[in-house]
Parts: sequence; C-alpha cells; structure tokens
Amino acid sequence: MPKANVTFEKLGITISVPAGTRLIEISEKVGASITYGCREGECGSCIMKISSGMEHMSERSVLEDKVLQENMAGRSDRLACQAQVLGGDITVKA
Ligand code: FES
Repeated sequence: MPKANVTFEKLGITISVPAGTRLIEISEKVGASITYGCREGECGSCIMKISSGMEHMSERSVLEDKVLQENMAGRSDRLACQAQVLGGDITVKA
C-alpha cells in the first residue's frame, strides 16, 4: 500500500502513514494538539495549514470548500478531519 510521509513542523516529527489516512488521525497519533469538534467537516474548528505537499492531499470536497470559505481560510488551509494524505512528502504547521 502506498505511504505518505507527514512532517509536523512545530513538533519536529515525521511519520509514515498509509495513503488515505486523514490528517486528524495522524495528528492524534503524534500528539499534535489539533482542536476539533464535529469530525464531519461542518464546524471548521480543525482547520490546519499545509506548508508543503498540497499536491499529495485529497481534493477538497464541496463541503470542505464551503466550510473553508466560511472561515476565510487560505489556499494552504485544510480541514484536518476531511483531508486525506495520498502519498509523497507533506509538511504541516503543527
Ligand atoms: S472537526 Fe468539525 S470540521 Fe473538522
């Protein structure tokens, strides 16, 4: 199964996870203090910044796009409970 390497900048941790894993699951695994609420892509509390490797992330769903826009999120922001890693190297600000 393809793997993705996800680096948490602030924590200084890189972890290898199976493709398809959601950012929120990875954050929990490494103990990054990500805040979240609904885990359903609705509340917007889990917004997370991707420093690099956005091309290795799943496409935004219509719902994720809507919630990100409502929260005035930038191009490098994703909902941790929705965004999945697809492979390659990804770095997040956490
Ligand atoms: S936890 Fe609510 S949108 Fe991600």
